[in-house]
Amino acid sequence: MADGSWYDADIDRVIISEEQIREKTEELAKQVAVDYADADGGILLVCVLKGAVMFMADFARALGRQGPSSEMEFMAVSSYGSGTASSGVVRILKDLDRDITGRHVVIVEDIVDSGLTLSWLMKYLQSRQPASVEVVALFRKPEAIKVPVPTKYVGFDIPSEFVVGYGLDFAERYREVPYVGVLRPEVYARS
Ligand code: IMP
Repeated sequence: MADGSWYDADIDRVIISEEQIREKTEELAKQVAVDYADADGGILLVCVLKGAVMFMADFARALGRQGPSSEMEFMAVSSYGSGTASSGVVRILKDLDRDITGRHVVIVEDIVDSGLTLSWLMKYLQSRQPASVEVVALFRKPEAIKVPVPTKYVGFDIPSEFVVGYGLDFAERYREVPYVGVLRPEVYARS
C-alpha cells in the first residue's frame, strides 16, 4: 500500500493489487485482440459509468497496443428499486451517442454482481442490431449471481463482499484507490 494516502486507514485489506489488475488487463486485452483480429470496423467499447471508468481507460490502451482499433461509447444507467440490491429494472440516464448497427460491441464492466444490470443491457444493445455483443468484466461475484449472464471475458472471481477501489465506490468515494479492497467496518458505521 502506498504511504500517506488519505484512504490507507479506511482499508481493511487488499483483495486485488495494482499489479494483479495490470497483468489481468493485459491478459484480457490479448484474448479480445485475438478473437477480434478480423472484426470488420474494429471494436466498439461500451463503458457503463461510473464504476468501469478506470478499467475502460486501461483496457482500451492495452487493447490498442495489441489488437484491432476501438472506439469508445459511454452509457449511464440506474436501477430502480430499494436499497443496495439492484432490481433489474433499469433507467437510462445517458444513452449511446451513435448508431451501433453492424458494429462489434464489447461491453466493458467493472463487476458483475447480481447480473441484473448487465442482463438488461445486453438485451438493450442486441435490440439495436449490432454485429455482435460480448462482455468483458474485470470482477465477478459468483455467489451473488441472480441471472446468468454470458460474460465471455472475466478477470477475477472475488468473494461476495462489498469492495471499493479501481472505480468501485462506497457513497461515491474510494473510486481513485488504485487497488481493490475491503473497507473497515467502522467506515460504514460512521456514514
Ligand atoms: P448488478 O450486477 O446488476 O447487481 O450490479 C452491478 C453494479 O453494482 C456494478 O456495475 C457496480 O457498479 C455495483 N457493485 C456491485 N458490487 C459492488 C461492490 O462490491 N462495490 C461497489 N460497487 C458494486
